[in-house]
Parts: sequence; structure tokens; C-alpha cells
Amino acid sequence: MIEAKEISKRYGDKTVFERLSLTVETGVWTVLTGASGLGKTTLLRVLAGLEQPDEGVVSGLDGLRKSFVFQENRLLERASALENILCVAPDRERAMKMLELVGLGTELSKPAGKLSGGMKRRLAIARALAYGGDVFFLDEPLRELDKGTETQIASLLRGELQGKTVLLITHDEDFANRPGNTVLRFAGPPMKPEA
Ligand SMILES: Nc1ncnc2c1ncn2[C@@H]1O[C@H](COP(=O)(O)OP(=O)(O)O)[C@@H](O)[C@H]1O
Ligand SMILES: [Mg+2]
Repeated sequence: MIEAKEISKRYGDKTVFERLSLTVETGVWTVLTGASGLGKTTLLRVLAGLEQPDEGVVSGLDGLRKSFVFQENRLLERASALENILCVAPDRERAMKMLELVGLGTELSKPAGKLSGGMKRRLAIARALAYGGDVFFLDEPLRELDKGTETQIASLLRGELQGKTVLLITHDEDFANRPGNTVLRFAGPPMKPEA
């Protein structure tokens, strides 16, 4: 379980959230929803330990392997699709399997920079799956995918990450509201649980 106690985050004089507390249960998908610009990405990054809160504490991450789909793809544009995965997850078989699963089996040697927007997103997802881990931080993983692929990738993620601890940001209501998910809805600013 990841636990945030009374965490606050400010940028300059802008308060993103103040004394926010929440828990992310082990083995459950916890979904963060709320308007654009509210602070979801900031909250996810603080919960992941990538950023420190100005006040409060986040606990429960010690010793866990963390895997990310960041809001931006963060690919090595000149490296091939396969190399993009191998540089974080060196098991070649597994890397190729994940590329197949996201529908990039024929694009292995293409430079990431030459892929379409949707393909880049799928590569970032394949990389996170290949890397694996105890907890997955997915910041709008379906972003930039076309409608057909969106459904496919949503069900792929459901299948591959069933029973994993997942912290997910999505605007896709179907994806968010799957049975078993804990959905945390936020209002604001500053970001706070919806009344
Ligand atoms: N590194 C930063 N420096 C200054 N302001 C930031 C930074 N990161 C985010 N913000 C601001 O914090 C607010 C929340 O951003 P963000 O967490 O990206 O929202 P969301 O993911 O919900 O769209 C926005 O107003 C954004 O401009
Ligand atoms: Mg965001």
C-alpha cells in the first residue's frame, strides 16, 4: 500500500494541492480523474517519489520496482523501437513479445522518431510492460491512440496488469470505471477530493 499523508505541493505562489491524504491499495488499480491542469500528473509524480511534496509524507514505496508510462512518451527518437525497450529491459524475447502485443511487431527496427503518434504511445506502453515491476504509474496511457487501438490497448493493459498495483490517470470513463477499480475523483483548484 502506498500512503500519502497530508501532502501539499506548490509551484511558486500556486498551490496545486494542500494537505491531501490518500492510499493506493496493493494489487488494485487506483484511478485519478479530474479536469485538465488540476494537478493529476503532479500528484502521480509525488506519489511515485519523483517529486517531493512541500509538506507531508508518502510512504510504502521502499523496495518496490516502479514502471512508468509518463504523460510524454520520452523515447530515444533515433534508436529503433526494439532498442528503446532493450535499454531499460534487456530481455530480447520479452521485448519482442511486448512489441507484438502492442501491434508493433513489424516496426522493430524503425527509429522511434519515425513512428506515428499512436505508435510512439504504444512503444512507451510496451517499454513499461517489458520493464515490469511491482507498481505501475500510467499517466494517460491511451492518449494519442486512435479509437480502434484505444480499446485494444485498454484491454491489453487490463490483462497484463491484472492484480498489479496500478496508479492510472485517464479521461476514458470505460477504462476508469472497470469493476474492481478504485476511482478517486478530484475537483478544484486547488486539487481536492470531489465532494
Ligand atoms: N514543474 C512545474 N512548474 C510550475 N508549474 C507546474 C509544474 N508542473 C505543473 N505545474 C502546474 O501545476 C498545475 C497542475 O499541472 P498537472 O499536474 O500537469 O495537471 P494535470 O495532470 O491534472 O493536467 C498546472 O497549473 C501546471 O501548470
Ligand atoms: Mg497530466
